[in-house]
Amino acid sequence: MSRLSRAVRSAAWRWAFLWTAPFGMTATALGGEVEVLHFWTSPGEARSIAQLKDLIAVRGHTWKDFAVVGGGGQNAQAVLKQRVAAGRPPASAAIKGPAIQEWAATRVLTNLDAMATFEHWDEVLPPVVQEIVKFQGHYVAVPVNIHRVNWLWTNLDLLRKSGVDKTPSSFDEFVAAADKIKAAGYLPLAHGGQPWQDFLLFESVALGVGGVDFYKRAFLGLDTATLTSAEMRKVLASFRRLKSYTDDKSRGREWNAATNMVIRGGAAFQFMGDWAKGEFAEAGRQAGTDFACSPAPGTAGAYSFVVDTFAMFQLRNWEAQKAQGYLAYVLLGQKFQEQFNLSKGSIPVNMTVSLDKFDDCAKSSRRDFDATAKARSLVPSVAVDMVLSNANHDALRAVVSDFWVNDAMLATDAIERMARIAGNRPK
Ligand code: GAL
Repeated sequence: MSRLSRAVRSAAWRWAFLWTAPFGMTATALGGEVEVLHFWTSPGEARSIAQLKDLIAVRGHTWKDFAVVGGGGQNAQAVLKQRVAAGRPPASAAIKGPAIQEWAATRVLTNLDAMATFEHWDEVLPPVVQEIVKFQGHYVAVPVNIHRVNWLWTNLDLLRKSGVDKTPSSFDEFVAAADKIKAAGYLPLAHGGQPWQDFLLFESVALGVGGVDFYKRAFLGLDTATLTSAEMRKVLASFRRLKSYTDDKSRGREWNAATNMVIRGGAAFQFMGDWAKGEFAEAGRQAGTDFACSPAPGTAGAYSFVVDTFAMFQLRNWEAQKAQGYLAYVLLGQKFQEQFNLSKGSIPVNMTVSLDKFDDCAKSSRRDFDATAKARSLVPSVAVDMVLSNANHDALRAVVSDFWVNDAMLATDAIERMARIAGNRPK
């Protein structure tokens, strides 16, 4: 075992002592500062993170908030790189997907195996999640939730007023409903015109129009034949079709501003992950009465997921390590898992947490998560950073977003650029 991993191990064991140690000790005797980098700044997200701050304070630790504005977290990742490069990592950062492996490979993350063993993470976390948060078999990050990405959010009042009697379950039904809504004088689709949101919309269309196998071959496999196939042309054409249902002020719009359009009746639909539900909840709206959550058209049998995780960076200061250890411990606990996921819109990643207090959207999310895991139609979200390495991700997102923004760009050009990305990938 290298000196580094020995040191990491021993820090982890010291944590193990700390969170199991009797807490009769005074809060100040235990207190340390924990700096957490995240990007959760929309009202629903802010409420979710506030719950964590409160739980940390209970044990006398101090939360140092390092929020970087920008839904989706691209800005936050850029800031994180600068901080680590300068030798001043935060105690923890919200990251996801392959970025966890990339950070772990640079040996800046802390080994969490001791805590994982004490807290039985192998038993409470779904296998697909364990794979994401382990590097070479060792835990290096703590997952906090499971978000479903392929959702369609609907304002039920606008649907009724437009004479549409149900939420669309296929792409063709979506087009028919959107045409009716437009004819009734309402905006069919709220869209936040930022590259990651363009990509998210494209992902749901790819899954709904192309299907799960197509999605896997195209994005998980970066298979050139699939990327250049007739199916991809159909997906691109369907994607472009949606633009005619959006408004011309969408460019640059944050995702939660688009959600608010659906909440307030400014638009009938939004394609967005279930963090959108956090905004409906903040506005006091009820699922099933005011709004509907349904799988994005054509994707009822599929589930594209995001797992938000907190990676723990190696720290020198002992007080800071204690606070960091406590944070890692709290994140998978019953209390935090319930409170946080209720306001975040996601479902608990600790599978032993009861869903009794959760709404029907969350309950159907859990059912579909389990069913799609069995049916092998549970897929990581390509748009929300769960699949591709940094460079490939940025390149594919740029193709999709350029195609969305520029009406003159031909499908052939988009396909050629996609094939080039596939050709350049490391073998
Ligand atoms: C995603 C993240 C979610 C959500 C969203 C909007 O990347 O996984 O937790 O907050 O961005 O900011």
